[in-house]
Amino acid sequence: MDLKAYLKNRSAMVDQALDRWLPTEDFLPHSLHQAMRYSVFAGGKRLRPILMIAACEAVGGSAQQVMHAACALEMIHTYSLVHDDLPAMDDDDFRRGQQTNHKVYGEATAILAGDALLTEAFRLLADAEANKSAPPKTVLRVIELVARFAGSHGMVGGQVVDMESEGKEIDFPTLEYIHTHKTGGLILASVQVGALLGGGDEEQFAALTRFGGAAGLAFQIADDILDVVGDQAELGKDVGSDQARGKATYPALLGLAEARQRADELCDLAVESLNPLGSAAETLQVLARYIVDRNS
Ligand code: IPE
Ligand code: IPE
Ligand code: MG
Ligand code: MG
Ligand code: MG
Repeated sequence: MDLKAYLKNRSAMVDQALDRWLPTEDFLPHSLHQAMRYSVFAGGKRLRPILMIAACEAVGGSAQQVMHAACALEMIHTYSLVHDDLPAMDDDDFRRGQQTNHKVYGEATAILAGDALLTEAFRLLADAEANKSAPPKTVLRVIELVARFAGSHGMVGGQVVDMESEGKEIDFPTLEYIHTHKTGGLILASVQVGALLGGGDEEQFAALTRFGGAAGLAFQIADDILDVVGDQAELGKDVGSDQARGKATYPALLGLAEARQRADELCDLAVESLNPLGSAAETLQVLARYIVDRNS
């Protein structure tokens, strides 16, 4: 398969849907809606939506069945980035190739733009029209699992331990907790939602759960590595900021070579987990490699 073409095509579909669902600046408050759109449309790989679409397709569904949920995950992810960059957190100035949200709109608006993106995401997940082909029970399961992976048992929990670990020597289980929670959870949620809304059975759901767990952790290890060896212009965000803040990362704890090896092993594990899905999961196999080999 042609990965480049797939990424381009699916991210264009996602961007179009995001543009449809996000309130425009014409609505009050203009500044808030402008700030929300600023960070969502600054760029971004749209990896979580694309993984959700690929998981849905792997169980026989279509991109359209998950488009609203894919946009919701991208809104939650973007909110997490806007808040992650705040002075009270990582205090970064660049994101997705441009100035961070608070640099342009101020901290208060950046906080509220994040809050609004999170809330809008759950409105979208519950949207009756968008969910018309899914059984109500499945929709409830989707909303519950996204909430779980986004909240204190998921992304927010991981962010708290990430901050509490700054400048400290932490053990490996704590590092793994941070990474599987702050990042891995939303990636796992993306493929699980793809399986559920695509009508996958429990065996397919279990296979995609193993895939998402491994790919999600591998994704954050690759992010840590890129903070050390990546190119700022290509990445579109600050590099070297983990070391400057004394962050708990795989390269800091294990060294670059072992971090790379761990990411590769997790990629192999992710690919192996797809066996029950057969050739329908080819795109996900290629995406797993992309997660660890990417330059941005
Ligand atoms: C960056 O995520 C933040 C992490 C969770 C590690 P991405 O690398 O997916 O960022 P975008 O969406 O492409 O900007
Ligand atoms: C951020 O992890 C994870 C979330 C935003 C939830 P990082 O702090 O490593 O992400 P980057 O490197 O700033 O994108
Ligand atoms: Mg952070
Ligand atoms: Mg950060
Ligand atoms: Mg990082």
